[in-house]
Amino acid sequence: MNFEEELKSRTAKAERIFREALAEESGYTRTLAEAVNYSLLAGGKRMRPVLMEETYRMFGGQGHEIEPFMAGMEMIHTHSLVHDDLPALDNDDLRRGKATTHKEYGEAIAILAGDALLNQAYEVMLSAFSLPVDLRLVARALSLIAQKAGIRGMLGGQSVDVENEGKLIDEDMLLYVYENKTSALIEASMMSGAILAGASQKEVWTVCEAASRIGMAFQIVDDILDIVGEEGTLGKTIHSDEKNNKTTYVVLHGLDESREQVEKLTEEAVSLLKELDVDTTFLEEYVNHLARRCY
Ligand code: IPE
Ligand code: IPE
Ligand code: MG
Ligand code: MG
Ligand code: MG
Repeated sequence: MNFEEELKSRTAKAERIFREALAEESGYTRTLAEAVNYSLLAGGKRMRPVLMEETYRMFGGQGHEIEPFMAGMEMIHTHSLVHDDLPALDNDDLRRGKATTHKEYGEAIAILAGDALLNQAYEVMLSAFSLPVDLRLVARALSLIAQKAGIRGMLGGQSVDVENEGKLIDEDMLLYVYENKTSALIEASMMSGAILAGASQKEVWTVCEAASRIGMAFQIVDDILDIVGEEGTLGKTIHSDEKNNKTTYVVLHGLDESREQVEKLTEEAVSLLKELDVDTTFLEEYVNHLARRCY
């Protein structure tokens, strides 16, 4: 299989896994369950579970405990998207090729659906404790994910992002925002994959350093595509950053320098991966594939 085919099959596997963990659309909570499933199934690259599974396999992981973690991570990520699109945050109408959750179900249900996704994520991941695994590794992975999804991670980054709309922020604050709103969940995905497979502290640390750069590059690519991308291909509202007067890497450095930075971060990520004593071929190809989106 070439890389594209391999990626397709991994993405399809991730999809199958979280389809099994969907909310039941019945009874009084039918609307909420529908909104949860709507946002989760709308599409998306499924990048975080794919990165997680590959990191797990790469370090020799062979069990099934990775599956609830893959589903949980996609749910946490989808929770961040549903809330990111709300009128109080970025106020966007299109996500994953469909109307955003609040456009389809109204704001109240969208807020609750985002909350429900976050809760469901932990419900699903906690089920790993009932599998025949090293429970200490499951606990370590869970606590890392909880930290990286919260104030010391994604939510922290999102808060500084929205608090500073309409202001020109400096490089230091911008890098804080990117490291947290975007890199944190990518770090959580890859590091938890490594932890669950029993990788050493040093290996987990190298994975974290690589994931941080993958996330930074990914957010800069996202900012570039917000300017030069097409709504049809991206499946989400373009020119959102300009509308909200956000300071992005492109605002501070321009398109050319931003693309150069994507290349630099990608090279750094690849050389960190090469330091690992395992086969990182698929991850390296994936990281390059993600960077190529903005050329
Ligand atoms: C969008 O993430 C939010 C950012 C961190 C830029 P993705 O681009 O991974 O969104 P989906 O999952 O493919 O929809
Ligand atoms: C948000 O960044 C990252 C999240 C934590 C959701 P953006 O606001 O740029 O993400 P998009 O462009 O709406 O996907
Ligand atoms: Mg945002
Ligand atoms: Mg947004
Ligand atoms: Mg964006």
